[in-house]
Amino acid sequence: MACFCNKSMALCLVLTICLLGSSFAELQRFEHPANGDGSLSFLVIGDWGRRGAYNQSEVAFQMGRIGEKLNINFVVSTGDDFYDNGLTGENDPAFEESFSKIYTAKSLQKQWYSVLGNHDYRGDVKAQLSPVLKKLDSRWLCLRSFVLNAEIAEFFFVDTNPFVDAYFENPKGHSYDWRGVLPREKYLANLLKDIESALRESRAKWKIVVGHHAIRTVGHHGDTRELVKQLLPILKANDVDLYINGHDHCLEHISDANSPIQFLTSGAGSKAWRGDVKTLNREVVKFFYDGQGFMSVQLTQTNAEILFYDVAGKVLHRWNAPKQQLYSAI
Ligand SMILES: *[C@@H]1O[C@H](CO)[C@@H](O)[C@H](O)[C@H]1NC(C)=O
Repeated sequence: MACFCNKSMALCLVLTICLLGSSFAELQRFEHPANGDGSLSFLVIGDWGRRGAYNQSEVAFQMGRIGEKLNINFVVSTGDDFYDNGLTGENDPAFEESFSKIYTAKSLQKQWYSVLGNHDYRGDVKAQLSPVLKKLDSRWLCLRSFVLNAEIAEFFFVDTNPFVDAYFENPKGHSYDWRGVLPREKYLANLLKDIESALRESRAKWKIVVGHHAIRTVGHHGDTRELVKQLLPILKANDVDLYINGHDHCLEHISDANSPIQFLTSGAGSKAWRGDVKTLNREVVKFFYDGQGFMSVQLTQTNAEILFYDVAGKVLHRWNAPKQQLYSAI
């Protein structure tokens, strides 16, 4: 936003309003170095915080094993970090019982980058975003929307919750903590504008967008139509390689019919086995598994390798593609 201020009071007032208007719109930026050879690897887990129950601890153990094998740089969480209703406050013991005491493996003692899920919005969202949690466990970083520059790849973490009409129009008895998000239209307009300009300006080899809700899924919730309409066109116009989400408690890989973008769901960190697949006859569905597990991503300048693992650490699906090949798919 361009603002000009000269000695005129009126223009100074405009400047002040411009600054106020843009202050909550700017995306916070973080940096994480890649490996010496330029490569990068990370694990993705979603929908997990259940004090170890529903195989959360088993999945955590396997993440530790694979994390060590791949020598991961960090972990990405796709949200729904604490069930059922987020955190009650900064001192909620669920933070340690569902996070610190579960992901104990040495290889997982890396930075975690997390977005919020809809269940997190049912608790005290400000507590989950609070820097106080980082004092309890230095790995923790959870924000609404932010950009992570990891050299070879740039990550655009997007708070997808406020896009979903149903949470506002038909909350089904749940109360959502929308502090910092209202007025909704303004929040969404600013967010889309910021994501678009950050993507447009990115010079990274790989562009990766992370949100809680799926854009494309054959799982329980189905496509998030608000994201298909409002977010997907921006991702396609800016050559995004991967869209990574949780929300559906499954592991899933869907390709796009007319762009190189890959839709990856990793939302199987604990409770799963819903067994309600919408439709598997979409030709673009490369893989779907409705049990527990997680995903790994390894990137080099020329290649991406994505693997999905089950609760025993067994590889369920492997997708390996050179960067150029993604584009020749158009
Ligand atoms: C834990 O994982 C095993 C193996 O996939 C599965 O059979 C079992 O039902 C899971 N338990 C729960 C509570 O989901």
